[in-house]
Amino acid sequence: MGLLLMEFGCVFIILFALVQSGKGEVYIVTVEGEPIISYMGGIDGFEATAVESDEKIDTSRESVTSYARHLENRHDMLLGMLFDEGTYKKLYSYRHLINGFAAHISPEQAETLRHAPGVKSVTRDWKVRRLTTHTPQFLGLPTGVWPTGGGYERAGEDIVIGFVDSGIFPHHPSFRTHNTEPYGPVPKYRGKCEVDPDTKRSFCNGKIIGAQHFALAAKAAGAFNPSIDFESPLDGDGHGTHTASIAAGRNGIPVRMHGHEFGKASGMAPCARIAVYKALYRLFGGFIADVVAAIDQAVHDGVDILSLSVGPNSPSTTTKTTFLNPFDATLLGAVKAGVFVAQAAGNGGPFPKTLVSYSPWIASVGAAIDDRRYKNHLTLGNGHILAGLGLSPSTRLNKTYTLVAANDVLLDSSVMKFSPTDCQRPEVLNKNLIKGNILLCGYSYNFVSGTASIKKVSETAKALGAVGFVLCVENVSPGMKFDPVPVGLPGIVITDASKSKDLINYYNISTPRDWTGRVKSFKGTGKIGDGLMPILHTSAPQVALFSARGPNIKDFSFQEADLLKPDILAPGSLIWAAWSLNGTDEPNYDGEGFAMISGTSMAAPHIAGIAALIKQKHPHWSPAAIKSALMTTSTTIDRAGNPILAQQYSETEAVKLVRATPFDYGSGHVSPRAALNPGLIFDAGYEDYLGFLCTTPGIDVHEIKNYTNSQCNNTMGHPSNLNSPSITVAHLVRTRIVTRTVTNVAEEETYVIQARMQPAIAIEVNPPAMTIKAGASRKFTVTLTVRSVTGTYSFGEVMMKGSRGHKVRIPVLANGYSR
Ligand SMILES: *[C@@H]1O[C@H](CO)[C@@H](O)[C@H](O)[C@H]1NC(C)=O
Ligand SMILES: *[C@@H]1O[C@H](CO)[C@@H](O)[C@H](O)[C@H]1NC(C)=O
Ligand SMILES: *[C@@H]1O[C@H](CO)[C@@H](O)[C@H](O)[C@H]1NC(C)=O
Ligand SMILES: *[C@@H]1O[C@H](CO)[C@@H](O)[C@H](O)[C@H]1NC(C)=O
Ligand SMILES: *[C@@H]1O[C@H](CO)[C@@H](O)[C@H](O)[C@H]1NC(C)=O
Repeated sequence: MGLLLMEFGCVFIILFALVQSGKGEVYIVTVEGEPIISYMGGIDGFEATAVESDEKIDTSRESVTSYARHLENRHDMLLGMLFDEGTYKKLYSYRHLINGFAAHISPEQAETLRHAPGVKSVTRDWKVRRLTTHTPQFLGLPTGVWPTGGGYERAGEDIVIGFVDSGIFPHHPSFRTHNTEPYGPVPKYRGKCEVDPDTKRSFCNGKIIGAQHFALAAKAAGAFNPSIDFESPLDGDGHGTHTASIAAGRNGIPVRMHGHEFGKASGMAPCARIAVYKALYRLFGGFIADVVAAIDQAVHDGVDILSLSVGPNSPSTTTKTTFLNPFDATLLGAVKAGVFVAQAAGNGGPFPKTLVSYSPWIASVGAAIDDRRYKNHLTLGNGHILAGLGLSPSTRLNKTYTLVAANDVLLDSSVMKFSPTDCQRPEVLNKNLIKGNILLCGYSYNFVSGTASIKKVSETAKALGAVGFVLCVENVSPGMKFDPVPVGLPGIVITDASKSKDLINYYNISTPRDWTGRVKSFKGTGKIGDGLMPILHTSAPQVALFSARGPNIKDFSFQEADLLKPDILAPGSLIWAAWSLNGTDEPNYDGEGFAMISGTSMAAPHIAGIAALIKQKHPHWSPAAIKSALMTTSTTIDRAGNPILAQQYSETEAVKLVRATPFDYGSGHVSPRAALNPGLIFDAGYEDYLGFLCTTPGIDVHEIKNYTNSQCNNTMGHPSNLNSPSITVAHLVRTRIVTRTVTNVAEEETYVIQARMQPAIAIEVNPPAMTIKAGASRKFTVTLTVRSVTGTYSFGEVMMKGSRGHKVRIPVLANGYSR
């Protein structure tokens, strides 16, 4: 008894020491031995390539479950052998896609693990963040795509999309199942459904078929606070609800806000099922250890597609290459298991090398501006018309109203410290002077930091009886981005500093004051136009300013990779979709059922949903085949028939438009209709990705083994030979011959192969034409030769035109060097 007590005492002291020193950290550890996905491959002789193999993990098999137990026991034994009980905490065992675990340990213990036999890698956990309707019509889904799959009521049926995000608001009409056609069971999916601790109701309803949350690493790091976020799949942010409804929300859901209908919302695959894996939380985002656990579980559960609107805050600094770390290795496992992964490319644009999605096995999605813009104007009493943003109704027709500035109607000047002019607090303003007038407010830093919102301005104006409001932005810092925010009251944000000045001067001149500065009478007038109707632009799509740009990097000295990223562009600017009533991430949409927000976060679920439509039509296609179909059929031409443009900063830091390159949009903007019938595909599988890793210059072959458990065998020669639907040679000296293999997924067809390139690089394809039988594969080569060294990339493309009308296009990029 005494001994036992002493042991407890000892444990207590060590734990205390760990906590007190504040040095406990979460580490992700991989160990020797196959994860389940490659173990199964070994048993059944699965080949990861080939269009026809669908290698879901069959977790019901006794051999698999016992192997999973065996792996977990080994993780526990290793930790138990090395460390005293209570000095460490294992958070997760990863068994399906990588073999390893996450543990909360001290840096000394991490060092011990690093040298322990059987340990392959030890990586300190790092953070991820969210990379924050009309689009189905813009993409031509209702007329061009859904009918081929049996209409919207069938689109995406029985395809399961997994969302690793901030959870879901399950009661939203976009996910509702009562009074709708019943959703049948999906036998292949075996994910769990958590029960809402508040309502005691399951998060699942037939449309949502899985809902789990992963927070152990966030808790261990002290970031998760149960009084701030929910310990359940309930979406406390809004982001997860938004992304899920973009990919798989029901069709024809009216977007109503402030008494107006902004059209009808629909997911890309409105009949697909939703499997929720919450690993992102309010305020801080999430941790890789939780995200890896979520992905491991999702693939185990049997999702077909993964939608990831998350990316690392920064590359992991403990691993040497961007392609090899616990996160990318887990995604490689997911792809090996037949799961298509769409990931947001990142929001660090328009600067080069800002991607946070690196690896060839995933589809990295950039964000486009679609054709819908909202504009409004303020007409002043002096006849000046000031343009601005105002997603609002107009003031009464032909009637003008008196302008009163918040500054001039303060109840008590001692409240100055609350920055009353940003109109967030009605109680500091004089209702008698505001009633029936237009309230002028000032834009402050509080709007950027999120403590002030346009929604609040509107509510303040309404509470004080104003007929409308104007929010005036006087100082525009470079890169400041204003999105129109729907409001119930006539309202407008004047975002142009010179127009704001115009307004302020007019107001000043027409507002006589006494010698103390007090206003004698308000004489300035104005009226606000109707901003509810969108203006449709034919110059769409364009690459959004924030969308992350290539070149892709292969390591953290920013060496360029022989791989194009992003892969593709999809709508990601001002996207209307469902919002969580419990979501707090966007102050302008607090308590609303819908939100219109922007980010590559919004672009990735567009691709996930369209991938579901392809998977429905071609259930046996590999992830690479789906990605190829999306990429080779994408477009580089906008609505008006001109080359797609990209938003860029000009020398004066204002936004300008330049001709986009593959570093902006990958292969181009997604065209769903063509993607369903690509003619040819560039297929690839696990061995090919391994070949890519093994031939990447400067990569450590031990590191490859440490993360993938696979040996290198270099038959690929050069990473540019990876059979991807793009060709990139980052360092071209003299000549390089690149090979590609296409597989015909349509009927027999004869293709003419043509290539063109900017003049600094010569391009040649061989053979110039070929006939490919249905289901057959053929090789061709692309020879790139330096003509002149320009110090920059040259862009080009290979175009294959089929006799039956298929057009298969891949981008070609090369940077020529003299040696
Ligand atoms: C507003 O003014 C226009 C032109 O001055 C006139 O045609 C129209 O009838 C007016 N509308 C109302 C509601 O008074
Ligand atoms: C308003 O006008 C007066 C003179 O008419 C000027 O001195 C003052 O600077 C102006 N104020 C603003 C805010 O422009
Ligand atoms: C989520 O929001 C709904 C609607 O506002 C509210 O009824 C519910 O109590 C909230 N849930 C939690 C757990 O806060
Ligand atoms: C890979 O693991 C071995 C031990 O198995 C270790 O010696 C080596 O440093 C690891 N390599 C890398 C790049 O982490
Ligand atoms: C290379 O990998 C392939 C595919 O796994 C395998 O069949 C072949 O035997 C390997 N070659 C060598 C030399 O290890």
